[in-house]
Amino acid sequence: KRHLLSAGDLTRDDAELVLRTAEELRSLADRPIKKLPALRGRTVVNLFFEDSTRTRISFEAAAKRLSADVINFSAKGSSLSKGESLKDTALTLEAMGADAVVVRHWASGAPHLLANSGWVRSSVVNAGDGTHEHPTQALLDAFTLWRHLGNLDGRRVAIVGDVLHSRVARSNALLLKTLGAEVTLVAPPTLLPVGVENWDVETSYDIDAVLPKADAVMMLRVQRERMNAAFFPSAREYSRRYGLDGRRMGTLQDHTLVMHPGPMIRGMEITADVADSDRSVIVEQVTNGVAVRMAVLYLLLSGNESDFGRTAPAAP
Ligand code: CP
Repeated sequence: KRHLLSAGDLTRDDAELVLRTAEELRSLADRPIKKLPALRGRTVVNLFFEDSTRTRISFEAAAKRLSADVINFSAKGSSLSKGESLKDTALTLEAMGADAVVVRHWASGAPHLLANSGWVRSSVVNAGDGTHEHPTQALLDAFTLWRHLGNLDGRRVAIVGDVLHSRVARSNALLLKTLGAEVTLVAPPTLLPVGVENWDVETSYDIDAVLPKADAVMMLRVQRERMNAAFFPSAREYSRRYGLDGRRMGTLQDHTLVMHPGPMIRGMEITADVADSDRSVIVEQVTNGVAVRMAVLYLLLSGNESDFGRTAPAAP
């Protein structure tokens, strides 16, 4: 494939190739020299119209560890403030010779527009578009689950919280189903999206009924910046009904993983003692994000004919 726009575009073979490739590349982190020459001479542009800590930095680290040149573009401080359009921004990047554009945008569908417009010849990677999708987050979450639980067939994953505004939830639901897992979305009725019945997942309003059966629990941030202030849930009421605290963690099975894509609001969807507990793999998710993004860039960019499903890197 030339682009990575949606987790739903990945076949099981595609996704498993990313996971296997990420596993090989992850071992680089333990070496004194963390670089491979695989993408020497290639240019990766990080095009971020919305704030990011983990995704932007891990794409930069991933590209650099594969010896690519990296250009970081963020909306703040750019000519966007002077009214420049996505098209003219894209044409500018094309003129600078980008081989891959990693794009985060507040508008759902912006990466698809970039990929399908003909404005750029480069590969486009969706790094989060509005409330729509975040496919590399889903891949790094699947990688983290796979490293701990092995094959995901029949594994039960609960995704809890503000599903309505979560691109992470949608991409995870798509990818986890492809990998054979069972997904349950847990949220108040007001934070489940219209049409969720077409997602091929279970839904529940009752976190306490779902937690004891889960193999992993993904907590989602309440995205106040995407809500009308009149509909902000009260932190106390939300955490009482849907937060993961020490008492609820006690109802999990011994092997169950606690996950969060970040950024977290400690005390709202997750308490600090749970986030910092030995059940939590939240920091490991960030580490795994670098390996997974290396795998994605490698599979998209190494060789003209590279295609998910066909190529894998030589052992480092
Ligand atoms: N999980 C995630 O996308 O984090 P950032 O917004 O910090 O990139």
